[in-house]
Amino acid sequence: MMGIPQPAFYIFKCQQSAPPGMPKPSCVSQNNPESQELMQHMSQVLMQKGIIGTVQPIQTSCLNRCQQGPVILVEPGHTMYVGLTKDKITRIIEEHIIGGNVVSEYVIADEMWGEPVPPSAMAR
Ligand code: FES
Repeated sequence: MMGIPQPAFYIFKCQQSAPPGMPKPSCVSQNNPESQELMQHMSQVLMQKGIIGTVQPIQTSCLNRCQQGPVILVEPGHTMYVGLTKDKITRIIEEHIIGGNVVSEYVIADEMWGEPVPPSAMAR
């Protein structure tokens, strides 16, 4: 039986913006006008490529790597991309999402993205 297919990917885009005047860095920033257009750009590229639906863009709040924003997290794969621009997002869609190859230049540094701690090791 053919069911409704799962999405192939979810792309979580951090849309957190710090309140005006706050020195804290954030993925959407008044100091970086392009950062305010990245979510819309990502959705447009997914639509242009005809892959929206099997690829679901999701707006999230903080993903806890604010110093390196703008960031996205691609699932499955647990791939965190940092320091994003429109051009970098287009390339990630073309090469990773469609092409199947992680764009390693834009992936967060290993020391900032160590192996996860299994909840079973932490649970009380
Ligand atoms: S504001 Fe985007 S990761 Fe924290």
